[in-house]
Amino acid sequence: MRGPISLAFALAVLAWVLVVGDLVRRHRPAWHWYLIGYPVAAFRVLSTWRKVAVLNDLAVSHRPRRGLLGELMVKGDPLRPVAPRVSFPRATRMGLTVIVRLHAGQTPATYMKAADAFVHAWRVHGVRVTSPERGLVMLTATATDPLERPGLAAAPAELLSALIGALETGGAWVINLRLVPHWLIAGATRSGKSTLLARLITQLASQPVALVGVDCKGGMELGLFSGRLSALATCRREAVGVLSALVVDMQGRMQLCRSAGVRSIWELPDPLRPIPVVVIVDEIAELYLSDGTRESKAETEQCSTLLLRLAQLGAALGLHLVVAGQRVGSDLGSGVTALRAQLGGRICHRVNDPGTAEMALGDLNKDAVAVAQAITAEERGVAVCTSPDGGWSRARSYLTPTEEAVAITKKYAATTPVLAALHGAVEFLDGDDK
Ligand SMILES: Nc1ncnc2c1ncn2[C@@H]1O[C@H](COP(=O)(O)OP(=O)(O)OP(=O)(O)O)[C@@H](O)[C@H]1O
Ligand SMILES: [Mg+2]
Repeated sequence: MRGPISLAFALAVLAWVLVVGDLVRRHRPAWHWYLIGYPVAAFRVLSTWRKVAVLNDLAVSHRPRRGLLGELMVKGDPLRPVAPRVSFPRATRMGLTVIVRLHAGQTPATYMKAADAFVHAWRVHGVRVTSPERGLVMLTATATDPLERPGLAAAPAELLSALIGALETGGAWVINLRLVPHWLIAGATRSGKSTLLARLITQLASQPVALVGVDCKGGMELGLFSGRLSALATCRREAVGVLSALVVDMQGRMQLCRSAGVRSIWELPDPLRPIPVVVIVDEIAELYLSDGTRESKAETEQCSTLLLRLAQLGAALGLHLVVAGQRVGSDLGSGVTALRAQLGGRICHRVNDPGTAEMALGDLNKDAVAVAQAITAEERGVAVCTSPDGGWSRARSYLTPTEEAVAITKKYAATTPVLAALHGAVEFLDGDDK
């Protein structure tokens, strides 16, 4: 009788553990990871390490590839290759890291090629290979895709900083225009560019910052936020007007700095400091592609020159550019490549062709290009973004519903700075809009 009772008891305990385990996994994924996921994954890392290393040419033998057998010279792969030394896996939130000591002659590139093999052997979502120090590589494994449901972080309080979304590492994705003054946002249609711009606008709306919109798709996207925009250009001719006025304003700021003997507006005393301006361009191609007529050609050239001047000189003068486009290549004209070189911050969403990812990130980091190309159509708002320290990360912007974004810009409409320099350059947004 005691046998069946204890069996029933054991089954009940097992069922309870499974149910509780599943609840913990769904509601407290981090706890589940530390309690169950991490020990299992760490065991897999250590138990499969040698095999994965051998199969992916990471193990080397200290014996020569050729030797003498009697009177004969024999060539071949020596037995007993030695796997590189690996540290004990360290748990991170929803992942783990291991440090590997490279064999002499190895480079991190060999490990990058093997990243997929690690993913399968350890049964994790992804493995990133970085080199924290010469002679070492760090393998960072993530258990699940943290960008599926990005957690909300606290917004930064700093001027010209915006909380855009979440990084793959679990940290906050922040654009800080004081650290990186100009940004390029690339991505195919419906990949999340305008959503990101809307997020940026709502984050900057409460700050003492002038926002200027250039949306030559007739103002369809940025027109929604016109209440908080100090000016909005909805066609190329208006864009030329706004950008010319900003360049004139920039010259005024230069003069101000020169007479005060300072090198940037941030060194000026508060009462003298002009308000920072963020120029947001949605769909750069509309500014650069001409329909062949003389007038249109002249306008595109003007736009190109004006944007380049703002990018080259604006950073220290509190003039910032955030430029979004589906393609940002030399097919738009030579000026666009020069502009791209000035836009230090890069964000690349899903792309249709490898060329766009290459254009957005290729001059900074080749690995980032490959990760950007792997973003799928379902992963809207997912992008590869660069960080001020020269690194990069996969990230996802927060989806701000349009009504919420419009409501925020309306709330702060009364604080919209008036830019005297822009007066007359474009139709000013009338009071009803605000
Ligand atoms: N971060 C995000 N999270 C979830 N969904 C998103 C996110 N970003 C964008 N989306 C979805 O993708 C759709 C398209 O996004 P968006 O309009 O920003 O693309 P786009 O790159 O500006 O496209 P286009 O080049 O055609 O203007 C949005 O309507 C939204 O539903
Ligand atoms: Mg768009």
